Amino acid sequence: MTYRPAHRLADIEPFHVVELLTRARQLEAEGRDIIHMEVGEPDFPTPEPIAEAAIAAIRDHKTLYTQALGLPELRAAISAFYGQRYGVTVPASRIAITNGASGALNLAFAALANPGDEWLLADPGYPCNRHILRTYEGLPRSIPVGPDSNFQPTPEQVSAEWNERTAGLLVASPANPTGTLLTLDEIAALANECRAKDGHFLVDEIYHGLTYAPSPKGTCSAAQEVPLGDEVDAPTACAAGDDIWVINSFSKYFQMTGWRLGWMVIPEPYVRDVEKLAQNLTLCPSTPAQYAALAAFAPATIEILEARRGEFRRRRDFLAPALEAIGFRVTARPEGAFYLYCDCSALAADSFVLARDLLEKTGVAATPGLDFGSNEPEKHIRFAYTTEIPRLAEAVSRLSAYFGR
Ligand SMILES: Cc1ncc(COP(=O)(O)O)c(C=O)c1O
Repeated sequence: MTYRPAHRLADIEPFHVVELLTRARQLEAEGRDIIHMEVGEPDFPTPEPIAEAAIAAIRDHKTLYTQALGLPELRAAISAFYGQRYGVTVPASRIAITNGASGALNLAFAALANPGDEWLLADPGYPCNRHILRTYEGLPRSIPVGPDSNFQPTPEQVSAEWNERTAGLLVASPANPTGTLLTLDEIAALANECRAKDGHFLVDEIYHGLTYAPSPKGTCSAAQEVPLGDEVDAPTACAAGDDIWVINSFSKYFQMTGWRLGWMVIPEPYVRDVEKLAQNLTLCPSTPAQYAALAAFAPATIEILEARRGEFRRRRDFLAPALEAIGFRVTARPEGAFYLYCDCSALAADSFVLARDLLEKTGVAATPGLDFGSNEPEKHIRFAYTTEIPRLAEAVSRLSAYFGR
């Protein structure tokens, strides 16, 4: 039979970094020591109490389908978490448990996107957004963002880009690949702009919890250390209105990437629509993973996660100045997630060529800007600090040697 994939496949690109990863694995197989700074997932194992809860659930045969929107106890636990951590009331009835933030984004666009609708997305941004959107026949429209607005879209840009085909806006805070945050005022202003246009507003909060003290400079140093316990977490978009779609996940802060579990706060009128879609598209999220996640909010688990958050911050505080000393420029304020999005134009003409050369010559793997959009990708490269400080130090010394610094 003739090979005849759906037309939409023409617009779905692979992750370019996969090519690099394949080469990294080849080099590792040949015995080379590769430092993985391209990886977008925590290097820590899932906390023990979560793993134990999963094992107990499986032993107790809690392995049947749950309701399509998820276990009522877990939806209630997430609702309570919003109250405790952010002081906001989010009713459990508006919370859907999903197959990761990916599952939430699929359900949101399946519920909202019409063929030919345009959706505003920040560039650079998480690449899968535009491909998920395209799968549901929506069209991504990029808003180029840069250092002027800390790599986040502004209401003025949203207003300027909006046209009669625009259906909504998706932002992320903390963002990938930059780690930048939106303040509550900024979220509220973007929400107002969308309301004024009668459009949808989606906020991806997958890196929530992984936030660090803000720095007035662009990079952060240990000298600016603030005790973690005294920090106010990034504001949740739930505080800016109940018409906002808020996407979250157990993948990053809770360190459960492979469990495939996330959630979404849905504006009330759409809850039934998402439920119908979830019933048909996935039946339910993984049952053992949902029972495991019930242990995610226990004080013993949060203690483990907060200690790890401290470690992520120490890594960031080590890596940002070290990369700047080599000649990379950290132009996005890295206040969250575990990424440094660096301007490498003073060091190389094309970050994709640079990433390949760094891998071959130094064994340091990083993600070129090309994966995150078309807004000056050749000038940027993303380093993930998802590896421990001695390995980061080794990477810095290899990079220093490569650039002769
Ligand atoms: C900004 C952003 N959103 C969503 C996802 C999807 O994550 P998951 O499906 O594991 O929750 C990722 C993964 O890296 C991400 O960086």
